[in-house]
Amino acid sequence: VKHLLSTQDLNRDQAVALLDIAAGMADVNNREIKKLPTLRGKSIVNLFFEDSTRTRISFEIAEKRLSADVVNFSAKGSSVSKGESLKDTAQTLAAMGADAIVVRHHASGAAQALAHAGWIDVPIINAGDGTHQHPTQALLDAFTIRRNFLGNEEMGKDLSGLRVAIVGDIRHSRVARSNLDLLKTLGASTAVVAPATLIGRHPADVAQFFDFDEAITDFKPNVVMMLRIQLERMASSYFPSEREYARLFGLDAERAGRLADDAIIMHPGPMNRGLEISAAAADSAASRILDQVENGVSIRMAVLYQLLSSGEETTID
Ligand code: CP
Repeated sequence: VKHLLSTQDLNRDQAVALLDIAAGMADVNNREIKKLPTLRGKSIVNLFFEDSTRTRISFEIAEKRLSADVVNFSAKGSSVSKGESLKDTAQTLAAMGADAIVVRHHASGAAQALAHAGWIDVPIINAGDGTHQHPTQALLDAFTIRRNFLGNEEMGKDLSGLRVAIVGDIRHSRVARSNLDLLKTLGASTAVVAPATLIGRHPADVAQFFDFDEAITDFKPNVVMMLRIQLERMASSYFPSEREYARLFGLDAERAGRLADDAIIMHPGPMNRGLEISAAAADSAASRILDQVENGVSIRMAVLYQLLSSGEETTID
């Protein structure tokens, strides 16, 4: 059984292959009839223990475009509220014939437990576990960057030569962790930009900046990836005030104006407008935030296709 648990599990060729398949899926998504028969007869359960808009809905759309039968499970309103464990919940769903489980959970390691504890024997796709990993977010981010900078030349290519600055609450961010791993695999240079309390620990090949303006001047990012301040994961105060954070680490129109002319602005969403990113920056011509959302469907189709299709029944054409 194959799983997608972490971007650390992908080598360069596997990651590029997923981006290439996603390019084919994007073509399908531009057709009048956006549907492939690839997963006909398969049942996929979206098992969400944590709130989500983009990931849950784009997985559902991706599954339906591949003709799978889709079941959406939300912990709210389920027997989890009566104390049922992750193991019993998963075994119950597997007993009903789930062919794959897409899981989002507040506990880091939950997807690994489902995949490797021996409770069930179906592919597991990690849709975000605690502060650990969010692999399909990093893949859709890489796809968005590749499309933006390589366009028609994208097939088979990685992100060599590009510089990506990830800014904000790195410490609590599964998006940052997944992106740092995948961007390195794909050949990009990376920098993290944050106050000392939120930057986390990183290997020497990740540039570190405690000053956003210095990062813009010295690192010269092609991509600025802004992260949400995750107030729900903060047990204590990591910066003196939201106003000060926005002034020092927020991306406003003035700071965005100092980026390179062809630099792009990204954010995984949901955004705290006015805190880590201003409305002017989020809605500017350099913003690729809605492209990220659109590309999420193509990437999730590609991941499902890779993990679940036999390869015999359908081609993307
Ligand atoms: N980016 C992301 O994971 O968004 P959701 O929490 O809305 O799924």
